[in-house]
Amino acid sequence: MPANIVLGAQWGDEGKAKVVDYLTSAADVVVRYQGGANAGHTVVTGDTEFIFHAIPSGIMHEGKICVVGNGVVVDPAVMLDEIAELEAKGFSVANRFFLSQVAHVVMPYHKVLEKAGEESETSVAIGTTGRGIGPAYRDKVERSHGVRVMDLLDPARLRDKLRASISAKNEILTKVFGQEPLEAGPIIDAYIGYGQRLAPYVADTSALLNQALDQGKTVLCEGAQGTLLDIDHGTYPYVTSSNTTAGGACTGAGIGPTRIAEVVGVTKAYTTRVGNGPFPTELLGEEGERLRALGREFGATTGRPRRCGWFDAAILRVSTRINGLTSIALTRLDILDQCEHLKLGIGYRCGDQVLEEFPADPQVLEQCEPIYEEMAGWCAPTTHVRRFDDLPPQAQAYVKRIAELSRAPVSLISVGPERDATIPLA
Ligand code: IMO
Ligand code: MG
Repeated sequence: MPANIVLGAQWGDEGKAKVVDYLTSAADVVVRYQGGANAGHTVVTGDTEFIFHAIPSGIMHEGKICVVGNGVVVDPAVMLDEIAELEAKGFSVANRFFLSQVAHVVMPYHKVLEKAGEESETSVAIGTTGRGIGPAYRDKVERSHGVRVMDLLDPARLRDKLRASISAKNEILTKVFGQEPLEAGPIIDAYIGYGQRLAPYVADTSALLNQALDQGKTVLCEGAQGTLLDIDHGTYPYVTSSNTTAGGACTGAGIGPTRIAEVVGVTKAYTTRVGNGPFPTELLGEEGERLRALGREFGATTGRPRRCGWFDAAILRVSTRINGLTSIALTRLDILDQCEHLKLGIGYRCGDQVLEEFPADPQVLEQCEPIYEEMAGWCAPTTHVRRFDDLPPQAQAYVKRIAELSRAPVSLISVGPERDATIPLA
């Protein structure tokens, strides 16, 4: 059986966890493959709401295997807290949660350096989540001071590595940023402790995933962030530090591209973005505030208000192309229930030119004005609807137009946070 990918098609916060949770019923294994605790994946079942930052959201399905792959940067404290919270709520992770031995670890100095960089006048302020993601990936790629999960399990090796890396980071902290140095001892002790507690979960997860596929099991790859936050294909430099696009699932989980069957791009029925960077269809002022209030658009990780705007089909076309989307999961359609009129961004006007594709150059993007197509709203509740044909005709037309403009079929529509508030189309 194949591996399928569910990933964000916009700037993150598309409702990936809800879609992953829904599709997990038909999967045996769920794996996260990039990003880290910058993700905030909210799952609602009955009266329980759980926001996942570290563990795949599939863990709420009893008996499913959940994996954190090699491509993730792991914050052990966040992961252990999440395990404890899950256990306290009655979800056991024993023998069904596995952590890659070669995943890199987020250290306290990553967060301190990230904050110092964001506040520095000589760097670009990205508006990051402050979870140490960029500096952790920087150490991984730079190679001198990367700490991997396997290092946590070997106290002597960990002590040597951390002494060296903390002294190198202290040079930067004191000399570049004029801050106090970090004390190595307490950090080393804390991370040896984390290693002991995480040890039961550590595994060769690439081998585990490939074995599951060989046995005919279905693996669901759960993306974090979104396509336009991809380090290569996103709105650089206002991006995250990993490959959020479909290729990232192969490198970050250790499975080959020939194993992948479906790639589902999760997209909101409108657009949001947190942090800095271009956003052509952003609604400023009252309209944006109305959408934010309707959708309760505040970050699940940082609580920051999300910037809100109309659906932008040019973004979806990038997503369809780069990820090879086999379908779209359209979420939060119900949030638009009260809108009398809707606008769909279909392309851009830049000077006297009309652009159909999302421009890669930020300077061009800055000069772009979205071209809108207006559609009538449906002004009726949709949360209770379970069949496409039962949606108001205007909502059906809106969904069909999104599929057409995005160049990918819609396989699922979400009309509420609950697992069953879902309209399957495929
Ligand atoms: P989920 O998985 C939305 C954004 C940050 C910032 C940029 C870089 O919940 O969809 P980082 O901390 O990653 O270095 O920040 O990326 N960002 C997200 N935005 N959803 C997320 O995750 C995000 N993770 C990072 O706001 O603009
Ligand atoms: Mg989020």
